[in-house]
Amino acid sequence: MLSQTRLKTPREISELDAQHVLVPWKKQGGPRGLPITRAEGVYFWNADGKRFLDLTSQFVFTNFGHGERRVVDAIARQAAELPVMASSFVTAARAEAAQAIAEVTPGDLNRVFFSTSGAEANEAAMKFARDLTGRPLIVSRHRSYHGSTFGAMTLSRDDRSWPFEPALPGVMSAPLCDPYRCPFAPPGERCTDCAGHCVSLLEDVLQQYGPHRVAAIIVEPITGSNGLIVPADDYLKQLREVCDKYGILLICDEVMTGFGRTGRWFASELFGIVPDIMTMAKGLTGGYVPLGATVVREGLAKQWDTRPLLHGHTYSNHALACAAASAAIAVYRDDHLVERCAEVGPYLLQRAEWLMSRHSSIGDVRGKGLFVGMELVRNRTTKQRLIETGAPSPTVKDRVLAKAMEEGVYVMAGQASNVIVMTPPLTITREQIDEGVDVLDRALALADAEVETSSTW
Ligand SMILES: Cc1ncc(COP(=O)(O)O)c(C=O)c1O
Repeated sequence: MLSQTRLKTPREISELDAQHVLVPWKKQGGPRGLPITRAEGVYFWNADGKRFLDLTSQFVFTNFGHGERRVVDAIARQAAELPVMASSFVTAARAEAAQAIAEVTPGDLNRVFFSTSGAEANEAAMKFARDLTGRPLIVSRHRSYHGSTFGAMTLSRDDRSWPFEPALPGVMSAPLCDPYRCPFAPPGERCTDCAGHCVSLLEDVLQQYGPHRVAAIIVEPITGSNGLIVPADDYLKQLREVCDKYGILLICDEVMTGFGRTGRWFASELFGIVPDIMTMAKGLTGGYVPLGATVVREGLAKQWDTRPLLHGHTYSNHALACAAASAAIAVYRDDHLVERCAEVGPYLLQRAEWLMSRHSSIGDVRGKGLFVGMELVRNRTTKQRLIETGAPSPTVKDRVLAKAMEEGVYVMAGQASNVIVMTPPLTITREQIDEGVDVLDRALALADAEVETSSTW
């Protein structure tokens, strides 16, 4: 047994971790990351004092960076005063956090249900939609990710859920809008009329099941971890119209796109729509304390004024997490981080395009704000993915990311995609972006080596 009285070495910590901690999404016997001891701003440090640039905001949650004092202090104050009360009591922390959310969300998204994660926020959204409409079916879209709990996993459409199927009945899957991989796109090009095509494909799915039986359609306004897919400009507006036509609720999962990430408070605004239900987590507290929220339009939520809301958790409205949310929203506001993201974002996109001009393995670059993806392909003309689903690890993508890490840059690629995702804290400077891009420039040579030599670029 290891001694409890002296500081453990990094190796001892890693051994202890390997003995006892089950890590998400990984073979438990494989590599499990470096022991990290400190984080500040856009950087974090390992136990040996080596510094890493966080080009991904961890799992896209440290939107205002690491070690933000104003949020840490608010958490400490709340911890000292009243860390938690059962949801049967009112606390200032929860009332103020809900008010702050209502102020920054678009339209009349005014009523907030608090949980502790993005998946839970989506579980609530599913139940709310069925309860509010009395309809049984939910439609989600291919290549979505909405969380790993059973319901959220059913909404998610990637190979991570295959071992657990059959999943929830009553969830239908429809095509999404991906101008790069649109079935109507000419070979090697992007689709120029994607919105209309893809909304009609989705409407066709509704017709198969009966639109009057569909409670809600759930979308990530910009698909995140499954490939950073930016839809055509008009797609969400047209989808909103289809929902209105059939009385279907539109749920926007803004767990990843919320809180300034795309240069607007929420990506829904970027596309000029107000969803009926919006879900959020991650940037809501910058990840400092786990918190999810499901926000419902005033007119809909009124239904629960006269009948019970049949949903809840022991930790609904957790005071410590709610205090972190209010402080986080104040930081976004006081430091104008949303505006900052809109200003610096185009520079990140431009640098990604520069990488594409130098690396044949990048088939497409896309993004909004500080939410930018680079899709890896074997062949730019056929758009064949560099790594096929189910390819054994370490894949070339894993090797690119490992090489970047070796050189001091932490960057992520979707579990089920070929897309390298750059989502740094909204506080990043142009110089720090350059620092990350220079390292990626070297690491991507590993991917170029796998490209078909006949590929034109
Ligand atoms: C769009 C989206 N929705 C939901 C989730 C699930 O959130 P959580 O991991 O907090 O359950 C994620 C997580 O990455 C996400 O990206």
